[in-house]
Amino acid sequence: MALKQRVFSGVQPTGNLHLGNYLGAITKFVALQESYDCIYCVVDMHAITVWQEPHELSHATREVTAAFLACGIDPKKHIVFNQSQVAEHAELAWVFNCVARLGWLNRMTQFKEKAGKDRENVSVGLYAYPNLMAADILVYRATHVPVGEDQKQHLELSRDIAQKFNIDYAASINNHGYGETFFPLPEPIIQGPATRVMSLRDGSKKMSKSDASDQSRINLTDDADAIALKIRRAKTDPHALPSEEKGLETRPEAENLVGIYAALNDTTKAQVLSEFGGGQFSTFKSALVDLAVAKLGPIGGEMKRLVQDPVYIDSILADGSQRAQAIAAETMKAVKDIVGFVRR
Ligand code: TYM
Repeated sequence: MALKQRVFSGVQPTGNLHLGNYLGAITKFVALQESYDCIYCVVDMHAITVWQEPHELSHATREVTAAFLACGIDPKKHIVFNQSQVAEHAELAWVFNCVARLGWLNRMTQFKEKAGKDRENVSVGLYAYPNLMAADILVYRATHVPVGEDQKQHLELSRDIAQKFNIDYAASINNHGYGETFFPLPEPIIQGPATRVMSLRDGSKKMSKSDASDQSRINLTDDADAIALKIRRAKTDPHALPSEEKGLETRPEAENLVGIYAALNDTTKAQVLSEFGGGQFSTFKSALVDLAVAKLGPIGGEMKRLVQDPVYIDSILADGSQRAQAIAAETMKAVKDIVGFVRR
C-alpha cells in the first residue's frame, strides 16, 4: 500500500466549542482542505472518558458537526464523521494498548491535570486515551495532524507508538509485503499566532470548555452582545500596547488578545502591533470586538440553523462514517495479518 498524504484531526463533543478550538484547530482544518485529503472526526468515544449525560453527548456530537460545516469544511470532498460509527478505532486502540508502554502513559501531563488528586477514581479510559488517539490517526495512516499546542505531547506519543509497531513487527510487515514500515510517523501541524489561546480572565490558564466561568471564553455560539461584553471585560494591564512583540513577553493577557486579533485577521502579532502599538487598550479592544463579531457571528448563526436539522446532520455523519470505515477496514486487515491474527 503506497502511503498517501492525509490529514486527520478530532474534536471532542464535550461542552461548548470556543475560540481556542476555532483558532487552534478548526481554522486549520478548513485551510488544509485545499492541499490534502482530510478526515475530521467528532471523537465521541474520547468524550466518555469522563461522564457525559447521554442526551447531551448526542446533541454535542451534532453541534460539533454543525461547527465543522459552518466554518467551511466540505463533507463531500472530505470526510466528516463521528468516531463511534467506525469500530476500527477501538479495535486498533486495543492493539496499541499492547504496544504502548505504561511508562509512556505515565508521563502524559494532560492525564495528570485531568485526574488531579483523585487518580484512583478516574476511568481507565482517561488513562488509555492517548492510545485511542494514536489509533484515530493511524487507522487512516494519516501523515499530518492539525492541533492546538496542548495536544503536542499526545502527538509525540502517537509517533512513538507508530515507530514501536513498525520496529516490533518489522519482519512480519516485510513478510506480508507491506513494505519496510507500515505506519507513517504523523506530523503535528501547530502553527500561527493562536496555537494556545488563553482564558480571558487569566492569561496563565488555557481557554477551556471546562472552565467554570463562561466569561473566560468566547463560545462559537455566543451572539454579538456576548462577544462584545466578554472582550470588553477581558483582563488586561494598565499599560498601552507595545510596538514590538518583545514588549508582550511579560504581559500574557495583552499577548493573548493580540494573538487572537492576529489569528482572526490572518496576520501576525508584529503586524497587529505595528497598527495598534502605542495606542490605548480600549481602542484595540473595540477593533477586536468588531473583528470577532464579523468573523464569529455568521458561524454561530449557521451552527444554530444547522442543529435545527438533526436528520441532515446525521446523514452527513452516516455518509462520512461509511467512507471512513472503508479506509479503516483496509488498515485493520493489514494490521491483523502483521500481528498474526487469523482472519476471514
Ligand atoms: P479537544 O476536543 O480538547 O480540542 C479540539 C482542538 O482544539 C484545540 N484547542 C485549543 N487550541 C488553542 N487554544 C486553546 N485554548 C485550545 N483548546 C483546545 C486542541 O488542541 C484540539 O486540536 N485529544 C483531542 C481530540 C482528539 C484528536 C484525535 C486530535 C482525539 N483524537 C486525533 C487529533 C488527532 C482533544 O481532546 O481535543
